[in-house]
This record gives sequence, structure tokens and C-alpha cells, in this order.
Amino acid sequence: MYVCLCNQITDHEIRRAVEDGCSSMRQLRNELGVATQCGRCGNMAREILNEHRQSV
Ligand code: FES
Repeated sequence: MYVCLCNQITDHEIRRAVEDGCSSMRQLRNELGVATQCGRCGNMAREILNEHRQSV
């Protein structure tokens, strides 16, 4: 599922980034470019980050 349409970033890519060590929105932004354009994906990206961080 696409989370960030502007940059074509999927939930799978966000989870993988968390598994690879991303633990904040700032890191996700730097690593993947999520929420760097319109910003509409920010809330969903943060939810995925927080949920997945707890399960890693
Ligand atoms: Fe992610 Fe626009 S949908 S920056």
C-alpha cells in the first residue's frame, strides 16, 4: 500500500526502514523522503513507524 504518493513510498518500505534502524520521523524523512512534499502522508507514516517500532 502506498503511504506517500508524492514519493511512491509504501508501508513495506517504512517497516523495512524501521527494521534497519529508523526510529523517528526525521530519520524516515532523511532515509526515504517520506513527507517531504505535500506532507499529507505524515500522520500515517508516523502511525506505521510507532506501531512497527514496538514490534521490532
Ligand atoms: Fe507524502 Fe505528499 S504524500 S509528501
